[in-house]
Amino acid sequence: MSILRSRFKSAAGDELARYAASLETDLLMLEEDITASLAHARMLGRQGIISAVESSSLADGLIQMLADYKAGHWQPDETEEDIHMAVEAELTRRLGETGKKLHTARSRNDQVAVDVRLWLKKSLAQYRAALLKLIGVLLDRIEYDGQILMPGYTHLQRGQPILLGHHLLAHIWPMTRDLQRLNSLTERLNLSPLGACALAGTSFPTDRYFVAQELEFGGIVENAMDAVASRDVFQEAAAVCAIAMSGLSRLAEEMVLWSAAEFNFVRLDESHTTGSSIMPQKRNPDSAELIRGKSARVIGDLQTLLSLVRSLPLAYNRDLQEDKAALFDAVLITTDSFSLMAGMIEKAQFNKDRFEKELYADFCLATDWADYLAQHGVPFREAYKIVAEVVQYCEQNGGNFSLLTAEKAGEFHPLLKANLADLLDPRQSVARRNSAGGTAWPEILRQVALLRAEL
Ligand code: ARG
Repeated sequence: MSILRSRFKSAAGDELARYAASLETDLLMLEEDITASLAHARMLGRQGIISAVESSSLADGLIQMLADYKAGHWQPDETEEDIHMAVEAELTRRLGETGKKLHTARSRNDQVAVDVRLWLKKSLAQYRAALLKLIGVLLDRIEYDGQILMPGYTHLQRGQPILLGHHLLAHIWPMTRDLQRLNSLTERLNLSPLGACALAGTSFPTDRYFVAQELEFGGIVENAMDAVASRDVFQEAAAVCAIAMSGLSRLAEEMVLWSAAEFNFVRLDESHTTGSSIMPQKRNPDSAELIRGKSARVIGDLQTLLSLVRSLPLAYNRDLQEDKAALFDAVLITTDSFSLMAGMIEKAQFNKDRFEKELYADFCLATDWADYLAQHGVPFREAYKIVAEVVQYCEQNGGNFSLLTAEKAGEFHPLLKANLADLLDPRQSVARRNSAGGTAWPEILRQVALLRAEL
């Protein structure tokens, strides 16, 4: 019978044992579980809670187990309920009586809390690297292709001409805030809950600060009950991921849209597309679609973590075991998604010619026309009305601004006649929008330099 059932007359039913097991999910933090146990074992020896010989034999045993696991010589026993029990059981199998001393002044409640924090520290660093990689790739892309002209959209209707660099920057800035959110989380994450024990601390003369230091935490979670009961930092990690994914998904959506023949603005590399099982010509943007799809999953993971905790009385409740599947899922998917997107942008080809000609004389220059009149003394609302009439005229005649002769334009307002050529040119429109944060190329370069210096 399992050690956990010593006070019961019977073993747990198979059905409950299966239902309660979390080993499969826990395996992701096996290394963290052993590392935390190692720090704990060393502390027990240092504090004289167990003998120095016992302490080093526990430490050696744990180090060996990790090496054996990595070499494929040992696998946690599947019949154990969770990773904590599996590690302890194996250690005891190897060391006999000494192994049974590891769990002195410790509980699985503080163990699981410390394991997850260690796992998050490691895994969020990987996410951070993927995020920085994508930002770097986007910045590089702006330097090659940033001056490509494209329509800027609102309501997915052409609004005003912009440069591709301007659009890409609008994706990069939120990513820098993703990074800030991630960095700020570290402060709250980097505290050790170990030593809180079940909820009330312990009567053994433990040293939580030593353990925290061994595990490279910046300090301890002060209150023992808080240390085992709260999951707000995990929720925050999932929120950081969910917010980042909802932004990344918008970029993914644009890759899907822009690679459609109707836009034909980007060609994704073959390595990021798939074919169809029936339509031989297909080149589907699956990587982008999957990022968009998986963002839903990460948002769901956050929802799970928020719902899980909201009605639990303090302190630990077994419900909390469900936190890991959602949290691990959120962090791993987010990391993979940013990494995949970095490769996708790195290899994508933007179609330089696609919009260049089409934007010439396009209605998305209409604001420029109104601005131009306003800059020459026509009140803006009046100017707006005049240009609206020009648009209406062109539409009724089945074209865009290009069907206007200088004479015709002059009929709407004499000022339009003189400057028609400039007013039809989207490059000039873009160059004129040189206000701080505007789409003019020098403004784009200024932001790129700012971002490069900051990162
Ligand atoms: N597997 C458990 C979890 O993930 C470990 C903590 C169990 N604690 C307990 N009191 N049953 O939450």
